Amino acid sequence: MTSRVVVAGATGNLGGRVVRSLIERGATVRGLVRASSKPEAIRDLADRGVETITVDLADQSAVIQALAGASVVVSVLQGLGDVIVGTQTRLVQAAIDAGVPRFIPSDYAADFTKLDDAENRNFGYRREFHRYLDSAPISTTSVLNGMFMDILQYGMPLLDFKARSVSYWGEADQMLDFTTMDDVGAYTAEAALDDAAPAVLRIAGDQQSPLQLAALATEVLGETFTLQYMGSTDEMAAAIQSVRTANPSSETEEFPRFQQMQYLHNMFTGRAKLKPLDKDRYPRMKWTTVRQLLAHRGG
Ligand SMILES: NC(=O)c1ccc[n+]([C@@H]2O[C@H](COP(=O)([O-])OP(=O)(O)OC[C@H]3O[C@@H](n4cnc5c(N)ncnc54)[C@H](OP(=O)(O)O)[C@@H]3O)[C@@H](O)[C@H]2O)c1
Repeated sequence: MTSRVVVAGATGNLGGRVVRSLIERGATVRGLVRASSKPEAIRDLADRGVETITVDLADQSAVIQALAGASVVVSVLQGLGDVIVGTQTRLVQAAIDAGVPRFIPSDYAADFTKLDDAENRNFGYRREFHRYLDSAPISTTSVLNGMFMDILQYGMPLLDFKARSVSYWGEADQMLDFTTMDDVGAYTAEAALDDAAPAVLRIAGDQQSPLQLAALATEVLGETFTLQYMGSTDEMAAAIQSVRTANPSSETEEFPRFQQMQYLHNMFTGRAKLKPLDKDRYPRMKWTTVRQLLAHRGG
């Protein structure tokens, strides 16, 4: 029987990749979009064979209708607490009312199940949502993938192409988890079509320490990348706190500086490390490595 998958957030960066991978795997896909979604993004979905339904996720009866007949709802929504806790809770309640048996929450992160709520604001929202989800009468699967590997291309301090440096806090041999957005999209599609998927699936397309990252960039890009020690992880936590306190207005932003530092802090302490991995669950998956990503950049 063909799986009918409903994707909330289908117009997004990751959502588009999940949709593409679902279609490649023969699923029937319905994308929930909103009246304010970009018309070209909706057209693009329709061109790819996705049935798009324009619906306000606050309108419970309309959402229940939109979810009718689905075998799974995949959330790829992005936002702060109002979306991650509020909108997703309403989406799950509608899924239950529509008789949908499975739900995939918009997690796609480092292993926030091992953290405290206060260690990362955006992960705190996910942890709060999971406290509701744990008692909801619906089967759920979280995909946890570490940092999107694509972000390494943006020229952040962790891999600074201009300064030719790799900045780190704590230990230079702390292993860090990376997965490309394409691989997360493909794996999420596999999980959506896998009725036996467990509650949590942990993946990392590649794992590299700052030490290895500097050596790899040097080798692949043909220029020497140096390691820059920035301080201990405790010093980093203190710096995050002072950046956050000094910029109260950034609390309403999705990715302010303190938030970006929190993601890195969770990685450098190793507390959100993904282990053990479920990479081999779907034989069709082919994983992109950091070496391949850098080689592509190097041309
Ligand atoms: N691990 C990592 O390094 C990493 C990095 C980035 C993101 N992520 C995660 O990946 C997931 C998806 O992120 P993304 O980058 O793909 O986000 P994105 O490109 O901003 O897309 C967000 C999607 O959510 C929809 N949306 C947001 N609020 C909504 C609402 N109230 N009602 C209905 N639709 C709403 C948007 O619809 P419109 O088109 O209408 O705006 C869009 O389709 C999130 O869980 C995010 O945290 C992880």
